[in-house]
Amino acid sequence: MNVTVIGAGTMGRGIAQVFAQVGNEVVLTDVYQKALETAANEIQKSLGKLHSKGAITEAPELVYGRIKFTEDLSLGRDADIFIEAVLEKLEIKEALYKQLNEIAGENSIIASNTSSISINALSAAIKKPENFLGLHFFNPVPIMKLVEIIKGVRTSASVVEKAIEITRQLGKEPVTSQDFPGFISNRILMPLIREAILALEEGVSSREDIDKTLKLGMNHPMGPLELADFIGLDVVQDIMAVLYEEFGDPRFKPPVTLRNLVNARKLGRKSGEGFYKY
Ligand code: CAA
Repeated sequence: MNVTVIGAGTMGRGIAQVFAQVGNEVVLTDVYQKALETAANEIQKSLGKLHSKGAITEAPELVYGRIKFTEDLSLGRDADIFIEAVLEKLEIKEALYKQLNEIAGENSIIASNTSSISINALSAAIKKPENFLGLHFFNPVPIMKLVEIIKGVRTSASVVEKAIEITRQLGKEPVTSQDFPGFISNRILMPLIREAILALEEGVSSREDIDKTLKLGMNHPMGPLELADFIGLDVVQDIMAVLYEEFGDPRFKPPVTLRNLVNARKLGRKSGEGFYKY
């Protein structure tokens, strides 16, 4: 299968990598050359790690060799599936979809990795909305087993079936969701993170003990504050803001502490500081 991934950030490069790992030819494209260079380095590092612990048996260079890194989207025109993983801004996605409408084949699937924008809203910019759906991966993509599949009102049943099959070919497990704000994952995760931040704000306990409670008491691999830092506090705030607006329910309202950290550009791991220092 030919796969084109648009957006070479953390999610896009992870998605490109897992498709290449199971034998697909992948075009990874981005408007920034620097993002492509970073992606190439990170994919090589990740493949090396996976190979050294036996999680992939094929030589990392062979897997890497199946990924073409390019700024030229038209080189990916022959894709059976396009996966969009660009910034979570409606205007940016719509502008990209205009280009995809020109180059995508009649039967190509177009999927968005959006974590919070409505698939139905996005589908309005797609020429063949029956071939469009949400495919939501989780970070780090090479490790996380889940793919959330989001069906829009106009997505055809056969495209959903195909997406389920593709997910299984990647060695991942699908779950399907209707197009409700936050789908399944973020509808449940965001209130958890929010409540942990409120517990911290209200002085219930320290950040370490709040995280330790979920890690050791509920077997979560990371506590909610640590996880928020890992996702990126700006991303968490943006997702909460969308959910708050869509549901109009205070259970999704971004807490003041989160806003203050984001405004101070303390964005979590990626900026060196968030709830914790790195
Ligand atoms: N590529 C290859 N291997 C990787 C990797 C990558 N990108 N990232 C981590 N690993 C490997 C490490 O090499 C390590 O391998 P070994 O166990 O063989 O040594 C293994 O994964 C575990 O990594 P670490 O030892 O560094 O640390 P850890 O045990 O704490 O695990 C973690 C790291 C996998 C990230 C784990 O903490 C975890 O699962 N955290 C929760 C992650 C999560 O919830 N992600 C979803 C976020 S929400 C989202 O993405 C969607 C959204 O819409 C917001």
